[in-house]
Amino acid sequence: MAKKILVTGGTGFIGSHTTVELQNAGYDVVIIDNLSNSNIEVLDGIEKITGIRPAFVQGDCTDIATLRKLFDENPGIDGIINFAASKAVGESVEKPIMYYRNNLNILLNLLDLMPVYGVKGFVFSSSCTVYGEPDENPITESAPTKKATSPYGATKQMSEDIIADVIKSGSPIKAILLRYFNPIGAHPTAEIGELPNGVPQNLVPYLTQTAIGIRKELSVFGNDYDTPDGSCIRDFINIVDLAKAHVKALERMLENKSEEKLEVFNIGTGEGLSVLQLIDAFQRATGVEVPHKIVGRRAGDIEKIWADPKRANEVLGWKAQETIEDTMLSAWNWQKKLRERGIM
Ligand code: UD1
Repeated sequence: MAKKILVTGGTGFIGSHTTVELQNAGYDVVIIDNLSNSNIEVLDGIEKITGIRPAFVQGDCTDIATLRKLFDENPGIDGIINFAASKAVGESVEKPIMYYRNNLNILLNLLDLMPVYGVKGFVFSSSCTVYGEPDENPITESAPTKKATSPYGATKQMSEDIIADVIKSGSPIKAILLRYFNPIGAHPTAEIGELPNGVPQNLVPYLTQTAIGIRKELSVFGNDYDTPDGSCIRDFINIVDLAKAHVKALERMLENKSEEKLEVFNIGTGEGLSVLQLIDAFQRATGVEVPHKIVGRRAGDIEKIWADPKRANEVLGWKAQETIEDTMLSAWNWQKKLRERGIM
């Protein structure tokens, strides 16, 4: 029988791409999402790509009664991938209580109910933000974590610690923490992608919206960093590649490929690319110019960070495959699709 996976936040950017990869790999998926930062049409996109419409519950994971009902009505859930969380760094500084309440309550509810309903494996969306500004790059999983610069980042660190404590206490679950670097791009079919609310805060959605004329100009935040071209360096990871890492992580736990109860993996390409190089890659891949100007630094930005993904490559059996050009093209095709559909 197919294994059943609960994907919280499954209509969001990473959740929807992961649902596609799970279904392609033969898993049954149940999504719960409160649609606070996504919309129901995402299910159509998932169905178009995979031929399967995942089970969907509209609800809030901060409410434990909603979750109990979900587990009662969907017996036999084997694993959970937890994407349900607030994720805007700037907003988290303005609304810390909302961020701690949301991100931590969701986690606590799920960890609490897993043993009750016999759920064995938990994949947590963590972030390279837990490392802060690295002392050296590429960064490995054993590098020290540093004090978070935002409540959003703090919730990621706290969540990692909470999961570790729960496992230490003897909870009969396994967990894998995936520390994502910078997820970008869209599904190559352009049926699903990233749909930020309002003015995008992240680089690639701002870039594609500028390229299509929604925004006048992309601001490059700083060209005086200690990097070859002066702009910040990130490890941009293709969203479909990232989604596939979740399937590997679940397999590892549910098929008992490891005795470890808690593991952590960096999910990145291993290559650092600067903001200016990324703009260049977009222009090369699409032939579309992106009007941009250099402005001052953005507060709280890390200068340079990229992953050492060796553990994920060798232990998890996962490796990033897509080229940056194909990834930028996928982001562009998605932006054009949104225009065709009259959404943006
Ligand atoms: C941030 C978070 C990360 C989170 C990710 C996705 C931190 C330190 N980082 O990553 O945890 O997973 O968002 O939500 O908390 N840039 C511009 N112009 C723009 C937008 C961005 O130049 O209009 C630059 C930024 O200065 C940065 C790079 O592009 O150097 C990437 O920025 P962004 O996409 O916002 O991601 P991060 O800040 O790296």
